[in-house]
Amino acid sequence: MSASAAKRYRPETQLVHAGILRSQFGENAEALYLTQSYIYDNAASAEKRFKGEEPGFIYSRYGNPTTSMFEARMCALEGAQAARATATGMAAVTTALLGQLRAGDHLVAAKALFGSCRYVVEEFLPRYGIATTLVNGTDLDQWRKAVRPNTKAFFLESPTNPTLEVIDIKAVAEIAHAAGATLTVDNVFSTPLYQRPLALGADCVVYSATKHIDGQGRCLGGVILGSEKFIQDNVHQLIRQTGPSISPFNAWVLLKGLETLAVRVQRQTDTAATVAVALAEHPKVTRLLYPGRPDHPQAAVAHRQMRAGSTLVAFDIKGGKAAAFRFQDALKLIKISNNLGDAKSLITHPATTTHQRLTPAARAELGIGDGLVRFSAGLEHPDDLVEDLNAGLAAV
Ligand SMILES: Cc1ncc(COP(=O)(O)O)c(C=O)c1O
Repeated sequence: MSASAAKRYRPETQLVHAGILRSQFGENAEALYLTQSYIYDNAASAEKRFKGEEPGFIYSRYGNPTTSMFEARMCALEGAQAARATATGMAAVTTALLGQLRAGDHLVAAKALFGSCRYVVEEFLPRYGIATTLVNGTDLDQWRKAVRPNTKAFFLESPTNPTLEVIDIKAVAEIAHAAGATLTVDNVFSTPLYQRPLALGADCVVYSATKHIDGQGRCLGGVILGSEKFIQDNVHQLIRQTGPSISPFNAWVLLKGLETLAVRVQRQTDTAATVAVALAEHPKVTRLLYPGRPDHPQAAVAHRQMRAGSTLVAFDIKGGKAAAFRFQDALKLIKISNNLGDAKSLITHPATTTHQRLTPAARAELGIGDGLVRFSAGLEHPDDLVEDLNAGLAAV
């Protein structure tokens, strides 16, 4: 269900209060409506509900009060008119793209994408007659040159997974609109707190709510946000008729996750910045990427479009795959996992996990070498984490 922010409270306040629907019992915590369907007072009411002449829920595949609260809170945070929650982040990405595109259309996407997003763009969309072109997202000329008469949509993530490249969202939105296309941004890595793609000109924002929004390793989820018209025209019917819908239980967990998002992400960002400082000069680290630092390749764009750095740090370890494996295996506190944004600090080796499907040449093009690791800061004490990372590097 759609929502708009009546009063512009600051994000931290919206995260706790926005979108709440209180029942007749006046509960404080958001209620979990674990119901598939709804009861009508009479047959005429059922008919009116189906005709859209009477407000109310019909079936939880496309509307549920708990899910609505989650969607409304995300709208308030993002400055969006409408949202639809989905079962996973990949359901959000796939639904957002499929909803906008038809056979014969063309999509331009940045090549630095999360592995499954790239799979959807490169493998699935072409199966349905949708042509796709991958470009270097930081090179604006490549976006311009990729446009064809049938280009209908652009897609990017920023910062990118795993090398934390920052793409100029405003500039890419202008190129998309000049070509008569839309721009969809996967905003997972920056979180809604640090970057607002709709305000920068994007038409659609997608999240894997599995990451920072849950942030405690419990459930998967996704969300698609945009204008009321965008969601009605492209997303609503696709979800209603095909069912990539979120469980109300997961929507409730994510809703409660939002309450603590700001404090968690702030703490994780401070920790990531501390880790970046501690590792930047380490003799076994040959390259360190962190969007909050002045030595980041797109530092100026990051400064312009993001409110803060990142909860992630990527770095290359001298000695390639063998060194990166020895390093990971020597960590005691930091866990090896391909997830991110979690309360527990996590380490990932993208070349052998999230991006192993790509050829070595395609990985090299994206800066994903065999020595690259991605660190996701958790909520532990930063000194314990720096000690663990240093001990890991000592074992290399
Ligand atoms: C940038 C990005 N987009 C989308 C996804 C997919 O989300 P999910 O795992 O919730 O399907 C992920 C991670 O898995 C991701 O890192």
